[in-house]
Amino acid sequence: MKIKHLLSITDLTRRDILDILGIAEKLKKRLRKTGKNKPLLKGKTLIMIYEKPSLRTHASFDIGMFQLGGHALYFGPEHIGLGVREPVEHAAKVLSSMGSAIMARVFAHDTVAELARYSKVPVINGLSDLEHPCQILADIMTMVEYKRSLHRIRVAFVGDGNNNVTHSLALVCGLLGMHIVVASPKGYAMSAAVSAKARSLAVKYGGSVTETQNPESAVKGADVVYTDTWVSMGAEKEKAKRLKAFRRYQVNEKLMSLAKPDALFMHDMPAYLGNEVTKEVFDSKQSVVYDQAENRLHAQKGLLVFLMKGKKS
Ligand code: NVA
Repeated sequence: MKIKHLLSITDLTRRDILDILGIAEKLKKRLRKTGKNKPLLKGKTLIMIYEKPSLRTHASFDIGMFQLGGHALYFGPEHIGLGVREPVEHAAKVLSSMGSAIMARVFAHDTVAELARYSKVPVINGLSDLEHPCQILADIMTMVEYKRSLHRIRVAFVGDGNNNVTHSLALVCGLLGMHIVVASPKGYAMSAAVSAKARSLAVKYGGSVTETQNPESAVKGADVVYTDTWVSMGAEKEKAKRLKAFRRYQVNEKLMSLAKPDALFMHDMPAYLGNEVTKEVFDSKQSVVYDQAENRLHAQKGLLVFLMKGKKS
């Protein structure tokens, strides 16, 4: 049987996403009601590899495995030396002979793809330069909780288009037949390949993917306004140039006032207040950023059960 990996959000079908979020919702309800979950992943180990820092991803995978009766093993940047001290192929073969799944947060997307190529167990992309599918599962769960249905939902992403979160968000909107407008400055649009894929999914499933350089027109009438840092991990050297290029793309109260009155504000965090978003918007009633963060735990537990155990919960 072919092993299921999650490298891109499009590795999941619409059905898979619904199944994962269905499991996640049940686990969340049960945890809230009883304070615990059944040990569905007893005896299973998730191997976590980090080339970059992490707060939400690390906490949610580790706590998620614990709550499901399994174990999570941490390898930080100093431990393995992927591709330097140890070829990716060797690490994948060794680790997948011991663990039940591998989660990797990497710089180059090729690294997580290569891990998957040589792994005997599912590999989960815990963020690469190209995509951040785990974040987007939690985001869809959050949108459903607040908006009930994703039908006709219009998302505006304002900021860095050529960015892991933007890419996975545009792709999931295509896949789920939602509408998204991405507003980014010249030179920071989505990758051409991702954009083309998102558009073709949108055509197939009845949504739309639009790109513009105008943040105001993107936000007008939106149900969800989403932004992310202007300086992603790995782009620190370009900080000064980026802060200048993105200045006009800050999500502030004036920009939010163009969206629907009940629009949600979303951000995957870490957030740099005063840059991509003001403190007023981040802390406003419309902001659901802490729900998104909490849902990383629940959505990933759904994903872990789905990948390691099958569709039951
Ligand atoms: N685009 C951000 C996401 C952080 C979770 C980054 O890659 O740093």
